[in-house]
Amino acid sequence: MVDITKLEKIVNKTRKIVEKSKEELYQLGESARREYERTKYELDSVKKQISEIIREVEKLEEEYMKARLYLMEVSREFKKYSEEEIKSAYEKAHEKQLELLSKREKEKMLRLTRDHLERNLKNLEATIKRAEELIVNIGMVLKILGNDLELISVEIGEIQQRQALGFSIIMAQEEERKRVAREIHDGPAQSLANIVMRAEYCLKLMELDPCRVREELMALMEMVRKSLQDVRKIIFDLRPMSLDDLGLVPALKKYVEIFQNDCGIFVELTVLGVEYPLESGQAVAIFRVIHEAMTNVKKYARASQVVIKVEFLKNKVNVLVRDNGVGFDVEKVFSEKQGKAFGIIGMRERIQLLNGRFEIKSSPNRGTEVFLSVPVAAR
Ligand SMILES: Nc1ncnc2c1ncn2[C@@H]1O[C@H](COP(=O)(O)OP(=O)(O)O)[C@@H](O)[C@H]1O
Ligand SMILES: [Mg+2]
Repeated sequence: MVDITKLEKIVNKTRKIVEKSKEELYQLGESARREYERTKYELDSVKKQISEIIREVEKLEEEYMKARLYLMEVSREFKKYSEEEIKSAYEKAHEKQLELLSKREKEKMLRLTRDHLERNLKNLEATIKRAEELIVNIGMVLKILGNDLELISVEIGEIQQRQALGFSIIMAQEEERKRVAREIHDGPAQSLANIVMRAEYCLKLMELDPCRVREELMALMEMVRKSLQDVRKIIFDLRPMSLDDLGLVPALKKYVEIFQNDCGIFVELTVLGVEYPLESGQAVAIFRVIHEAMTNVKKYARASQVVIKVEFLKNKVNVLVRDNGVGFDVEKVFSEKQGKAFGIIGMRERIQLLNGRFEIKSSPNRGTEVFLSVPVAAR
């Protein structure tokens, strides 16, 4: 048998791993997004600094230009200016020049930083996009995995159920065969052996006491008749031919008659509604279940009376078999027999195979009630 719990374990483990990967991926995506925000903020601030520094550089260039012009003027008209003034003009120009150089250097650095940040940002953007795609993909994988695995486990469940179904039905059939073998062994087989012996005796009598042969032959005939009856009963139990030819109710009537004669329990058969032909599988299953219920009555119930009710409704057939016998503890029988109550399990499974409903109710000294309901095509 397929071990469904093992498979389920594997399935769950796989799902967990994939789910964990999804979670990790999500976290990766999240940290990339945070990094992206941070980088973007930094970039904005660098860009601001750059535009500031550009303004500063422009201003400085102007100031430097002015300082140089002034210096040129002072140098040209050096007689007009004191040495002090010339020196200061020169220093001022030089200072502005240095300042300008340093600012330009700073601008260059900032531009480099900006380019670097922009590249980072692009990479982060790609990472985030990739993570999102992967999360979607993994989500899809999980969905497919989940659906398929669910389907698989449903399928396995069904297979197992079918296996179990088949198993109990086979066991019930095996029980039935045992019963038939025993019946033939105890009944007709013994009678036939007896008949052979009596026939031999008749042969002897023909020589010794011919007058008694007639009497003996009469007894022999009676034995043969009884054996024939037994054989017919066994054949009927195996498969009532009237089930196919005449339908469920006539087969039941015949069965009830034999049952009553056989074990002296009064059976009341009631048919409600008008009988309509059932599919052969349905008729056989219903008959088998009633048969098994009645066999149990005979074997265990010690009942004096059985009621069989068959109800033909528009879209289903209901059957009730109730005895007034000793009853039994259903739960207890099932737990003690640990699924070996093949008779009852077989009944339930036959009905389940027809998508029907099966119930057995019983309690000690309260009798037993077997109920079944099988859906049929609406008429
Ligand atoms: N009508 C009944 N009255 C009393 N006991 C019953 C009746 N039907 C079933 N049982 C009890 O339930 C048990 C299980 O029945 P079943 O599944 O048909 O198995 P089996 O007939 O092989 O014992 C029986 O052994 C018997 O103890
Ligand atoms: Mg039984």
